[in-house]
Amino acid sequence: MQGYQWEEKYSVGVQSIDNQHKEIFRLLDRLFEALKSGQAAQTTVGIISELENYAVIHFHKEEFFFKQFNFAESSDHINEHKQFIEKVAVIKADAKRGKLASSFELINFLKAWIDHHILVVDMKYCECFHKNGLR
Ligand SMILES: [Fe+2]
Repeated sequence: MQGYQWEEKYSVGVQSIDNQHKEIFRLLDRLFEALKSGQAAQTTVGIISELENYAVIHFHKEEFFFKQFNFAESSDHINEHKQFIEKVAVIKADAKRGKLASSFELINFLKAWIDHHILVVDMKYCECFHKNGLR
């Protein structure tokens, strides 16, 4: 199984946000490693807790700028953030019950999140954030 590596195509052109996005790639990598070494059952819940902490901080940051800059497409975007939090909570509950499939589900979910949310949805704020001086 192959992990995702952060690369330039994932850049939203704002360094502090890119740095936060890299954390998703790191957590994904740790999940792969845990699965490879047979540690998934012991580590997935901990990784999910880190993911939850990360998501709260990261989504707040994006949503703060949406407000600050009056970003027009914010409501759909914020909805996806909410769905992320809800989905991760469901996977965490499964992981806590020892459901091994939850590790795979989380990996697939995070890959889909990178492909859809980061590459498509987050990219929509690039221009707005840039116009307002964020780099
Ligand atoms: Fe976002």
